[in-house]
Amino acid sequence: MAKEKIIIFDTTLRDGEQAAGTRLGAREKLEIARQLARLKVDVIEAGFPASSPEDFEAVRLISEQIEGPVICGLTRAIEQDIETCQKAMAKAKRFRIHTGIGVSEIHIAGKFADDKYGKTMGQKQATILKMAVEAVKHTAKYTDDIEFYAEDSGRADRAFLYEILEAVIDAGATTVNIPDTTGYSIPEQYGALIRDIRANVPNIDKAVISVHCHDDLGMAVANSLAGVKNGARQIEGTINGVGERAGNAAIEEAVMAIHTRRDFFEEVETGINTREFYRTSHMVADLLGMPVPANKAIVGRNAFAHSSGIHVDGFLKKRETYEIMRPESIGLAESRVVLTARTGRHGLRHRLKDMGYTLSKEELDKTYERFLAVADKKKEVFNEDLAAIISDEIHLIEQTYELLHLHVVIDTDTAPKASVKVRFADKTIQADATGDGPVDAAYEAIREATGQSPKLESYSIRAVTGGKEALGEATVRISEDGRSFVGRGISTDIIEASARAYIDAINRMVAAQEKGEQPKEKPEV
Ligand code: KIV
Ligand code: ZN
Repeated sequence: MAKEKIIIFDTTLRDGEQAAGTRLGAREKLEIARQLARLKVDVIEAGFPASSPEDFEAVRLISEQIEGPVICGLTRAIEQDIETCQKAMAKAKRFRIHTGIGVSEIHIAGKFADDKYGKTMGQKQATILKMAVEAVKHTAKYTDDIEFYAEDSGRADRAFLYEILEAVIDAGATTVNIPDTTGYSIPEQYGALIRDIRANVPNIDKAVISVHCHDDLGMAVANSLAGVKNGARQIEGTINGVGERAGNAAIEEAVMAIHTRRDFFEEVETGINTREFYRTSHMVADLLGMPVPANKAIVGRNAFAHSSGIHVDGFLKKRETYEIMRPESIGLAESRVVLTARTGRHGLRHRLKDMGYTLSKEELDKTYERFLAVADKKKEVFNEDLAAIISDEIHLIEQTYELLHLHVVIDTDTAPKASVKVRFADKTIQADATGDGPVDAAYEAIREATGQSPKLESYSIRAVTGGKEALGEATVRISEDGRSFVGRGISTDIIEASARAYIDAINRMVAAQEKGEQPKEKPEV
């Protein structure tokens, strides 16, 4: 069966830019329009030229420079708006004028309250219908690509809606837009509205039906798709769903639903280059200053991330277990396995393997324990953290001493106190000490517990990864009998990292002494 094309009408630069607290300059709009052309949207609604000189300039610039999509400008059903709009788009290869008027009783009573539009609702509706037809006829002087919006169709009186649609199609409208302006509809209702329009507007086959849904109840995409299922052939929306109040239908969601659920939307397809979604989404977010939430469908940071043990395990065995789309299909290089406290051994081993480490079972067990301790303190464990854990945990030398416990008390009035428990052979040795600072106290307690008192030559600490819970890596150099040894330790706690580094250096020293190694010219690192 030949598929029918769904026209994708992007209004990020018009309705999207109406999002509270945002404003795009003409150059920024041009940049987004260029990206929308790469995405291969069919129509770009570039702005509302009569609304401001800046909007006029943006529409003019986009019309002059962007090729591919049809460029569209919005107007009210007012001659002056239409004149301004066609002037702004004069240089476009192909352009469309999108004119219209409010059709629900609430809109009519609110916006056309003045008696000059009529005293009764019936009289006002007659005026509205006349204005709509005149606007379409005036537009027809400049283009035959005319879209008419029946604002607030979602709440409009059905008989009046059918009447006005029939009249504007007769006047020359080639697309009729059925906005659910206030996001009031429920998918079954909105789908039925489109179905009923097809059944009750006699000349509807001469126009494309467009869906334009707002997200006040979180149903903009569901409503749009219900419209498509019932015969609409144009979807209007914005990238990331930005727009007035709760926003518009998110184009990336509507399009990916049609692509992913081809089995359900078998009669239609879009011409969108979905691989540009990720890039487009991030450009729009950056330029509008509206970050994409991590859990946003399709383009959120976590949309292709797996974290919990069961999910990671299933995903690594067969990606389809937990993924219905390929990350590449939206322009992401790959899915992410995020290492957190909920990640299992399998996920950790897989990441370590990717990083080039092949560990024995015992080494993996030790690394996993340290990984969990770090993950408990950090939201996400990065490769750099793992590398530091491995170099700290998988010692190439015998661990004569092992730090089992460290407790440090800092008090502004008295000297810091440290208490340690150290494993030596099969014994646990406890020691307490005070010092000039918390690290000094910890080192004193370690000297006490191990009976080793090498000279501390140098000490440094650095953050391995970013963020408030970053891993700190301590490096110490100790010396005894003219030989020096370097030890490293890591932890999200810098005092613990320092203690681990000190014990590591002592273990290296003891190992060298046991082997009876002679002092080298250069210190061992
Ligand atoms: O939501 C709406 O009704 C609109 C029209 C102006 C198309 O944005
Ligand atoms: Zn809208």
